[in-house]
Amino acid sequence: MSDPGPAQRAAELREQLHYHNYRYHVLDSPVITDAEFDELYNELRAIEAEHPELITPDSPTQRVGAEPRSDLPKVRHEVPALSLGNAFNQDELHAWRERIGRLLAEDIELDYTVEPKLDGLSIILTYENGVFVQGATRGNGEIGEDVTPNLRTIPTLPLHIPADPDGPAAPRRLVVRGEVFYRLADFEDLNKTRVEADEAPFVNPRNAASGSLRQLDPSITAQRPLTLAVYTIMTGEGDLPNTQWETLHLLHDLGFPVMLEYSDHFTDFDALADHIANWEEKRSSLPFEIDGLVVKINDHATRQDLGVVGKDPRGMLAYKFPAEEKTTRLLEVGINIGRTGVVMPYAVLEPVEIGGVTVKRATLHNFDDIAAKDIRLGDTVVVKRSGDVIPYVIGPVTDLRDGSEQPIEPPERCPYCDSPVVRAEGEVAYYCSNPQCPERLVRAIEWFVSRAAMDIQGLGERVVRQLVEEELVKDIADLYSLTVEDLVPLERFAEKKAQNVVGAISNSKRQPASRVLTALGVKDVGGVTAELLLDELGSIDAIAEADPDTIESIKGLGPHTAQAVVDFFNDAHNQRIVEKLRQTGLKMEAEQPAHESSVLQGLTFVITGTLPTLSRTQAAALIEQHGGRVTSSVSGNTDYLLAGEKAGSKLDKAQERGIPVLDEDGLQRLLEDKS
Ligand code: IVH
Repeated sequence: MSDPGPAQRAAELREQLHYHNYRYHVLDSPVITDAEFDELYNELRAIEAEHPELITPDSPTQRVGAEPRSDLPKVRHEVPALSLGNAFNQDELHAWRERIGRLLAEDIELDYTVEPKLDGLSIILTYENGVFVQGATRGNGEIGEDVTPNLRTIPTLPLHIPADPDGPAAPRRLVVRGEVFYRLADFEDLNKTRVEADEAPFVNPRNAASGSLRQLDPSITAQRPLTLAVYTIMTGEGDLPNTQWETLHLLHDLGFPVMLEYSDHFTDFDALADHIANWEEKRSSLPFEIDGLVVKINDHATRQDLGVVGKDPRGMLAYKFPAEEKTTRLLEVGINIGRTGVVMPYAVLEPVEIGGVTVKRATLHNFDDIAAKDIRLGDTVVVKRSGDVIPYVIGPVTDLRDGSEQPIEPPERCPYCDSPVVRAEGEVAYYCSNPQCPERLVRAIEWFVSRAAMDIQGLGERVVRQLVEEELVKDIADLYSLTVEDLVPLERFAEKKAQNVVGAISNSKRQPASRVLTALGVKDVGGVTAELLLDELGSIDAIAEADPDTIESIKGLGPHTAQAVVDFFNDAHNQRIVEKLRQTGLKMEAEQPAHESSVLQGLTFVITGTLPTLSRTQAAALIEQHGGRVTSSVSGNTDYLLAGEKAGSKLDKAQERGIPVLDEDGLQRLLEDKS
């Protein structure tokens, strides 16, 4: 067979590159490596360089490289881009259903789709013979802005449909509508990069999406990690679906990103209403922002019959979730001191209602963040309250300044103990320099008794403050010396309550060492990290003696945590507290899981390489079932290295140290010999 000519080869390459781009960006499941992709891409680039006449508008090489423009040309939409009527609660949702019921024949059976209402920028994409030819913003619904070169740079936008050559044939002409937006993780990355480059961060993903897409220079858009999803066909020529549910599936099959996994189809309106009522919780766990759900009558013809009021089609409804962001005035900046001494600024706000709750205070993160966002006293600020997250100040509305706003500086002294405030090197945080600061102690006790730590009931903030003020408790270990007589004189304390609290404190001695370690309040050490440390090192004492390298070599832990652990246990004050807690009878050693035998009791193993029959997890379980311990790095505590094929540096290290090396058979023999 002869070589294909360049035209044919270029067409093949385009098809393959569209497909692999789709697998990678839309399906998130590539079937070739990045290097293989680059090879195909470079081959196409080379052909196009030699034969520029072969460049097509949908060539994957055309995503980037368009020239900056002097303005964004206007485009008139072929079909008006309508908007949506709103419902804000279940009553309004049911009222909508009744309204359309009255307009349609009484006994008609309706079905509906429910889709996320993405909070981004609405866009309209036109495809001719499968090729992306134009993209525009919604604008005023009649006229939008042509942002075709900018849209081309978004990797999830198909330049050619179907993206998969085995997909359904594309309609001759297709005009679809969707939303350009940021995933939250990408938005955060984007803002981090901006702050590092001394640029003002975007206030929210929605503004960022709009700003990023409406650029005159597409190379700027290309650097922004935008994505999109489409949800409707506005018009087209060819075989088009009759329902919204089929539309979503067709768009998906053609290779568009579609929110199918978050969309549902209902035949029963009550089930739909329940579903919506349950959605609000899901909202805050999504990887992108939505401001509600869109309910659509599934059948296009029925929707057509219902017509439009103003700009809102009657057959669709936006069910809006409560706004999560509001603006209000920043009156004052208050200071909290955390258990590690960290200085935490918070905003005192003119009270504002957000999502049914009156917000008077909000987090301001830290002073670097305040400076980066240029938040000033007296500013009108955007405040966000979302899900269970503590409300926080997003940023100032600088256009509303009148010149009276004042910069915000970190305090020079701790407002609770008047000790100097210091800044740790390489950290954004400021700290109260006094380890005995009473406010730190209050926070340390609150943490110690909290549900995540020792879980001691009956010690709320007010009680804790009294204990510290009355000097009944000078460190966390003093809790265990409290008596009923100490507590009874305190405000709001009767005999019974005092007995309960003393009992709860005493019962906490049964908590496992991982909770004790968590409760100590070592920076960066929460429950999960505490368990990792204890699984690996066996006891709080061993952790206290470990060097940073040993800690850092534990899977899941990094250098910052390692340093924090070492610093904590090097501190004489902390050493005294740990000692006091030990004397009190708190658990300091990890509990051994139940085992089949104890033949490996006291022996520590490290596993490396590929074993012939057991996976590493299975081998670890086998060792633990027989009383042994498995750790991730070779150290002076290692008794055996269990090594399979392709064992690397751990084998070298074990041999250097003269640690016996076993293979899988060796382990089995050890188990047999010993039992
Ligand atoms: S359907 C006739 N579906 O919401 C209107 N809109 O308030 C067709 N939006 O500007 C829109 N997600 O940009 C529809 N799944 C979705 C949507 C959605 C977000 C936006 C759309 C529109 C706004 C209307």
